[in-house]
Amino acid sequence: MTTHLITDAIGNTPLVRLDRIFPQKHISVYAKLEYMNPSLSIKDRIVRYILDNAEASGELKPGSTIVENTSGNTGAAIAMIAAARGYKAILTMPDKVAEEKRSVLRALGAQVVICPTSAAPDSPDHYVSRARAIAASIPGSFMINQYDNKKNAEAHFKTTGPEIWDQLGASIDYFVASGSTGGTISGVGRYLKMQKPAIKVVMPDPYGSIYYSYFKTGKVHEEDIGTYQVEGIGEDHLAKCMDFSIVDEMYQFNDDNAFDAALRASRHEGLFVGTSAGANLWGCMKLAETLTEPATIVTVLPDSGLKYLSKFKKYIDQGFMAPARDGVLDLKRAAV
Ligand SMILES: Cc1ncc(COP(=O)(O)O)c(C=O)c1O
Repeated sequence: MTTHLITDAIGNTPLVRLDRIFPQKHISVYAKLEYMNPSLSIKDRIVRYILDNAEASGELKPGSTIVENTSGNTGAAIAMIAAARGYKAILTMPDKVAEEKRSVLRALGAQVVICPTSAAPDSPDHYVSRARAIAASIPGSFMINQYDNKKNAEAHFKTTGPEIWDQLGASIDYFVASGSTGGTISGVGRYLKMQKPAIKVVMPDPYGSIYYSYFKTGKVHEEDIGTYQVEGIGEDHLAKCMDFSIVDEMYQFNDDNAFDAALRASRHEGLFVGTSAGANLWGCMKLAETLTEPATIVTVLPDSGLKYLSKFKKYIDQGFMAPARDGVLDLKRAAV
């Protein structure tokens, strides 16, 4: 493919079948390689879509400043497109974000503001509040506002969902995706269910996030809020973009589950993916264990393991994960 603009290289990512970590004969699992977008994550899709719309409506003027709170991927997409289109970018991040992700934003010319992960959602030090305060102080600045901007889910409804449907069609039975803003699961889930209402949508959610118990009880339980090492998924507040009516089931997972699944994908499928991809793959494994009839599951691998090299190293060094073994995996599966 030859293209003149970096934004034209966003989307149309490959979908691969994972036979080695899902060797059950009656289950087919497909993963969409979203880490093959130009800034190495699924967030390129929403940022391009929101900026294109803001430019068209005149909300975003040439040379102005884009401000956003981000766990890194939305920031990388903003920094990339801002550099290519001549905008300034100021990005706030929680301090748990891997060093590699901060460095990428700086390399792309963005200004990075690090905020304490432990800050309460209503604290001025919380990375979302900081972004809002910065934006309010810069005349003509533009916020992507990924948590509450309906165009986030719309971007997935218009691109990721149709691509998955074109790639797999009516064979799809389940879509599995964890969420933060909820844009991916809400947009893709809605599109797929519109094509085939029988499709079920399953969401893995980390311990420490409010989403699981909100889904089960319809109430936010502040006591659920806790810290975890997996990045970019789970939430300490309700995002307006997250449409719970699309979700059929949620599973809770811990850091070990997600890191372990990510490293399995890396060592047995050659897919070096990030920790939320690990969570999604763990969700597919958990779902597969419950299925006795033939089924096709599709998921997304939102970003690359390259963004978490220091975290993976620390995780393995601390002995959280057994080193990879050759041959048969530690799961109730046929021989690999
Ligand atoms: C690495 C990663 N995975 C998954 C997600 C979740 O996607 P969404 O915000 O569409 O729910 C994010 C969002 O920040 C992310 O950064």
